[in-house]
Amino acid sequence: MKKFINARIYGQDEADEMLVEDGNFKAVGKNLGDADEVIDLENQLVLSPYVDPHLHLDYIFSGLGEGNANISGTLFEGIQRWSDNKKTLTKEMVRERAMEGIRKEVSHGVQYIRSHVDITDPELTGMKALLEVREELKEVVTLQLVAFPQEGFFRFEGAEELLEKALDMGADVAGGIPHFEISYEHGAESLKRIVDLAVKYDVMIDIHCDENDDPNSRFLEVLNALVMEKDYGQKTTASHTCSFGSADNSYAAKMMGLFKESNINFISCPTENAHLQGRTDSYPKRRGLTRVKELLENGNTVAFAQDSIADYWYPLGNGNMMNILDNGIHLAHYTHIDEINKAFDLVTINGAKVMQVEEQYGIESDKPANFIVLDANDAYGAIRERADVLASVRNGEYLFKRAPKTNEIAHDFLK
Ligand code: FE2
Repeated sequence: MKKFINARIYGQDEADEMLVEDGNFKAVGKNLGDADEVIDLENQLVLSPYVDPHLHLDYIFSGLGEGNANISGTLFEGIQRWSDNKKTLTKEMVRERAMEGIRKEVSHGVQYIRSHVDITDPELTGMKALLEVREELKEVVTLQLVAFPQEGFFRFEGAEELLEKALDMGADVAGGIPHFEISYEHGAESLKRIVDLAVKYDVMIDIHCDENDDPNSRFLEVLNALVMEKDYGQKTTASHTCSFGSADNSYAAKMMGLFKESNINFISCPTENAHLQGRTDSYPKRRGLTRVKELLENGNTVAFAQDSIADYWYPLGNGNMMNILDNGIHLAHYTHIDEINKAFDLVTINGAKVMQVEEQYGIESDKPANFIVLDANDAYGAIRERADVLASVRNGEYLFKRAPKTNEIAHDFLK
């Protein structure tokens, strides 16, 4: 039995100790008694691990190297460049990229990742590689895989069969990209078939939905209606929904009522969409974000995600969810301290809810002893300072622990 003491646990002011036995929290509270090993966390902030619920592990680093830059900076050039590149992709290449991407995320305190995996490939090379990685790394990271038809459910010949095959092979989630189909009707029909497939296989749904600035893009409305009718909203996530950030207010007000009924979830990718959207605007330029605060106030779950690391769509990114959170709360106008104090939800519990892992997630008795320690004493200070993760603990054992940054040389003024 081991005990972590002097912990400032996010959202739990009344507790400062965590007792761990056999990889699980045995108790969380105060004065929890003796233990074989006592670890002093020195009043540092403790969070449940970061969750990155939207990433593309098969694309990571594809944008590096000469001639690989996305010149226009648009989503559509990214898809075209990927389509050309992936013809030479091998399972080993995907595995290497994914391993490096996961290593980066885990070293920043992430322990839960949902990765989309392109299945518009007759060989399903990426899915085969990622299914092995999911199993191989399960002690380190909880990985969910989305069967994602990047080149279109209808635009890519055979995508429907490939998506079903990927679900047969063990993919956790059915994906889609209706705004990339050739007409509204094609996009809407793709959603209908994807929802039916998800229900048939009893898997979650995560759609790249309205990732554009067109205020009249309406696939979110279609997806929401389909899952509302089947009472499937809680298992469904609309990723991006950038256009909903540009929608007319009266339309948005109507939709908010329907989202409340369906309980559909949302994922926003702040850095990615700030980068990709607004490309056809002169000035003013739109931010690319969906209505994050309004959806949360509406009672829907919204989580932030990284989306890309140095791929054809986005040249930056390193799996650091603090960077995503920092950008996201600026773009979403988080200004009041009460909002900032709760902002870690966007990269922790909300992502866990989207991934439907919340029964095994959180600093509570009988759950896996998974948590991270930040170089800060409270949530506001951590976010303002963009605090580093100093330790990540999974099943009661350290994945890593590191010392805070210190100066080798310091002027008297800085001492
Ligand atoms: Fe994506």
